Amino acid sequence: MRFCDIIDKKKLGEELSYDELYFAVNGFLEGTVPDYQMSALLMAICFMGMTDREIADLTMITAKSGQTLDLSRFGTRSVDKHSTGGVGDKTTLIVAPIVAAAGGVVAKMSGRGLGHTGGTVDKLESIPGYRVDLTTEEFFEISEKTGLSVISANKDLAPADKKLYALRDVTSTVNSIPLIVASIMGKKLSAGCHNIVLDVKYGSGAFMKTPEDAEILGQKMVDIGKACKKNIRAVITDMDVPLGRTIGNLSEVQEAYSLLGGHDEGLEDLKTVCLTLSANMLSLVHGISVKSAYTMAENALVSGKALEKFKEMVMAHSGSISKLEELLSNYSTVVETTNVISPKDGYISALDAEALGITALNLGAGRLTKDTKIDYLAGITLVKKPGDFVKKGDLIAKLYSTQKTKLIGAEDAFMKAVSFSEKPINLRNIIYKTLS
Ligand code: URA
Repeated sequence: MRFCDIIDKKKLGEELSYDELYFAVNGFLEGTVPDYQMSALLMAICFMGMTDREIADLTMITAKSGQTLDLSRFGTRSVDKHSTGGVGDKTTLIVAPIVAAAGGVVAKMSGRGLGHTGGTVDKLESIPGYRVDLTTEEFFEISEKTGLSVISANKDLAPADKKLYALRDVTSTVNSIPLIVASIMGKKLSAGCHNIVLDVKYGSGAFMKTPEDAEILGQKMVDIGKACKKNIRAVITDMDVPLGRTIGNLSEVQEAYSLLGGHDEGLEDLKTVCLTLSANMLSLVHGISVKSAYTMAENALVSGKALEKFKEMVMAHSGSISKLEELLSNYSTVVETTNVISPKDGYISALDAEALGITALNLGAGRLTKDTKIDYLAGITLVKKPGDFVKKGDLIAKLYSTQKTKLIGAEDAFMKAVSFSEKPINLRNIIYKTLS
């Protein structure tokens, strides 16, 4: 088989066989297919798309490219969630403890930040002492004891996706429905969970810009999951504006901790997304209606049981709650801060999530290269959100970094993401639809 013939075929919009896709992916993984040839094939896929059969084959090839995790010891209680990526998306930190407190087992591998989007593992690492790199035995032990363990994705699971994703990230080939389906579902199938809920995001901060595209993406993932005998749903949610009021790592942990502790003022969007995802996960775990599962999730949150689960998980992962609380209460004294002030009167009509994700990244909250060391304290707090009225001189946001130089120009970058309206604006529903 010649790799050039495979590229040619896809360039002409023809369907690739299982053997051709296997040859491409495994050759790339083993190093016999160089980056430049794989990049050309990825770009041809971006332009010409893939049939459902090709997408299913690519997904299975990705899932089987390494080891698979066996979560069968948890039976039908194991449940995973996956977000297609967003800004200020700290939902795993809230949803996982809620679901574990209500009888699910969330034994979950998460990722790091990618481009302008944040990653759960980076957020967890901002908690003093928290270990994301447990052995599989430790991971199972904690999951059995507490019903909850979130660690960094094991390098042996779906290794083809890791290598492909790194290449896609730097060749502008992330934004392709077939490639995203194969990447996410390849990972999810190798992670061995019985129940899966996908949070498929759309809007300026998401890879899918419209709800229609998000629906196509979500339905394809649900169909593949079902074909592989998984209990699976996809919730389509809005990511035009960052979720909640914080973007960063420690600041997002702070917000999640605060919501778990019952402080939900100004966090209606975050709370709604978290409860909806939790309800769908619990509905699959317990085989009950989403409505009953929603009440169950609310009870776990309001009773403080979810907060207790979060603390249990942190401690089981060698993290320190007392050091976390101390760090959170000293936050403002250990970072440099810039206030973003409104230049005029008006309603905030948009806060471009992608632009704010990039602003947070440049403050130090994300990686500019693979080797960048994250500043866990860097980030953004949104004091105002779309729909709010501001007067000239009002505080719109606070920007943080431990390095003063990173704040230079950050206020201007932030302001480019803000739009104003003279009239009140209608806010979109944060939940667009659920697919099953
Ligand atoms: N998240 C993933 O895991 N893979 C993609 O391709 C896009 C988002």
